[in-house]
Formats: sequence, C-alpha cells, structure tokens
Amino acid sequence: MKKFILIILGIIAVVGIVGASWYYINFQKYAPDVYVTDTPSGQITTDTVNETVSTTTPTYSMVDVATHKDATSCYSIISDSVYDLTMWVNLHPGGKDKILSICGIDGTERFMKKHKGGEKFMDILTRYKIGELSQ
Ligand code: HEM
Repeated sequence: MKKFILIILGIIAVVGIVGASWYYINFQKYAPDVYVTDTPSGQITTDTVNETVSTTTPTYSMVDVATHKDATSCYSIISDSVYDLTMWVNLHPGGKDKILSICGIDGTERFMKKHKGGEKFMDILTRYKIGELSQ
C-alpha cells in the first residue's frame, strides 16, 4: 500500500513538473504579446499634438441658409444639420422641384414625410452635410 501511495505521489510530482515547465515555456513565448497588448499604443507625442487640425464643425444660422434658396446654391436644414443640396437638385429621383422646395428653409418635415429617415436616404444626405444649425 505504501508503495502504491509513493507511485501516485511520484506521478503527481512528474505531472506537476511537466505542467509547470510547459506553462513557463509558453508564458515566456507569449509574454511579449501580452505586454504589447497591455501597453497603450500610439502614445500621443508632442509632434502628434502639434499636427492636430481643428475639427470644429461649421455652424450656419437660419439667415445664412435662407440666402441659398435656389438651384444656383441650395442649402437646407434637416434635423438641425445643414446640407448643401445644390448638386443633388438634378440628381433627385423624386424630381428637382421637390429639392428646390426645401432650399433656404428647414426641410426636415418634408424629407421625413417621404423618406422617414431611412438608411439609404440618410446615407445620401450625409454626403452633402456642411455643418450644424447654430442655436
Ligand atoms: C439628399 C437626399 C434626399 C433629399 C434631401 C430628399 C428630399 C425629398 C423631398 C423634400 C421630397 C418631397 C416630400 C413631400 O413633400 O412630399 C422628396 C420626395 C421624393 N423623393 Fe427624395 N430626397 C432625397 C433622396 C431620395 C432618394 C435617394 C430617392 C430615391 C432613391 C428619393 C426619391 C423620392 C421620391 C420618389 C419622392 C416622391 C416624389 C413625388 O411625390 O412626386 N429621394 N424627396
């Protein structure tokens, strides 16, 4: 019986040593990646800060928008953002008169009435965004 216990303890010791070695080798192998992941990458240097460009969104008042009210320059407000729809006037599948009807004014209600903020329409609209409506 004593012999049996010694054999069991021996097996446990061998498995323990092999397991610990395997863990140690793999830990060594993968440790660098772990450290790379844990290190904040792309640290902000003085250079990067100096190169940062201003991202302030232009703002337009209702009066600014009102001066762009026809096919020569067509601005419209949709959900508090301002869009330059001049190029879109002749491209609108629903006809140019529909776009001309929202030039220089808040077109939210008319746009939403027909397009209901659908993804396809919003994607196209986004291309023409030039800024936000000033409060
Ligand atoms: C910049 C994006 C767009 C804007 C600002 C816009 C704006 C408008 C407006 C204001 C109307 C009139 C709604 C009403 O009072 O009844 C309208 C109608 C319409 N739009 Fe658009 N639209 C845009 C994109 C599109 C796209 C991508 C399509 C088609 C794929 C489309 C198809 C139509 C159609 C079929 C109508 C109905 C025309 C009619 O009733 O005779 N629009 N749109």
